[in-house]
Amino acid sequence: MNDIRIEVSGLHKSFGDLDVLRGIGFTTSRGTSTVLLGPSGSGKTTLLRSLNALDTPDRGVVRIDDVSVDFSALPPGKAGRAAAARLRSRSGMVFQSHNLFPHRTVLQNLTEGPVVAQKRPLEEVVGEARGLLDQVGLADKADSYPYQLSGGQQQRVGIARALALKPRVVLFDEPTSALDPELVGEVLAVIKDLATEGWTTVIVTHEIRFAERVADQVLFLDGGVIVEHGPPGQVIADPREERTRRFLRRVLDHG
Ligand SMILES: Nc1ncnc2c1ncn2[C@@H]1O[C@H](COP(=O)(O)OP(=O)(O)OP(=O)(O)O)[C@@H](O)[C@H]1O
Ligand SMILES: [Mg+2]
Repeated sequence: MNDIRIEVSGLHKSFGDLDVLRGIGFTTSRGTSTVLLGPSGSGKTTLLRSLNALDTPDRGVVRIDDVSVDFSALPPGKAGRAAAARLRSRSGMVFQSHNLFPHRTVLQNLTEGPVVAQKRPLEEVVGEARGLLDQVGLADKADSYPYQLSGGQQQRVGIARALALKPRVVLFDEPTSALDPELVGEVLAVIKDLATEGWTTVIVTHEIRFAERVADQVLFLDGGVIVEHGPPGQVIADPREERTRRFLRRVLDHG
């Protein structure tokens, strides 16, 4: 296959009368980071959830690697659910707050998915999970429970847990917005490392300075359409559209 890892075209999604995604299209290349910026309610979370088939778009096509789903022609019932599940298996999602299993240790949180859902051998999974914990700087917390960790550490476990499923793409929805300011840096550092190591990521964030450093591509979303896209040196440093400029002024003033 070619170097395109995510390909989205003509994506539409409404909730009742509300058209939330109104014809979204973009591509991302393997091993690159795409940052999604946009005001509250512009459809960022809905777009990420559509990539992960947690939301079902009304029409349009999402392809991640070898799995392509045309939502206009999604078969009803079991076949449609199977197609959605295949698409979902290609991406890992990291939410605003970690939602770890509270009664499982950190290590068990990482091994559960690969062993139960992917039916992989425990021994191999444990080895990989320890490697991932090391990667996010938490090798010594394998046997701790989530409540014994700081918010930033919990979020790093959440990232390692998403990686344990070996997704082709990692999707982040405001991964630092629920954290105390002093914990934001450690989580952003982990996400930046992933990008450097060749993971393909799509990141919703309001951390504009971080976006500038990490993004290969920035998409600015407003009202369910991509108003502007390009490298951060263009979209963030020298935006063409007035709507982008207004948004950036607002978030940078508060940052
Ligand atoms: N399940 C749902 N049912 C009805 N409306 C929804 C649903 N999910 C989202 N919406 C609406 O769709 C619009 C886009 O929501 P979305 O969560 O995608 O925005 P967002 O860009 O992620 O915003 P924020 O920056 O606040 O997280 C909003 O108006 C929201 O109220
Ligand atoms: Mg959102």
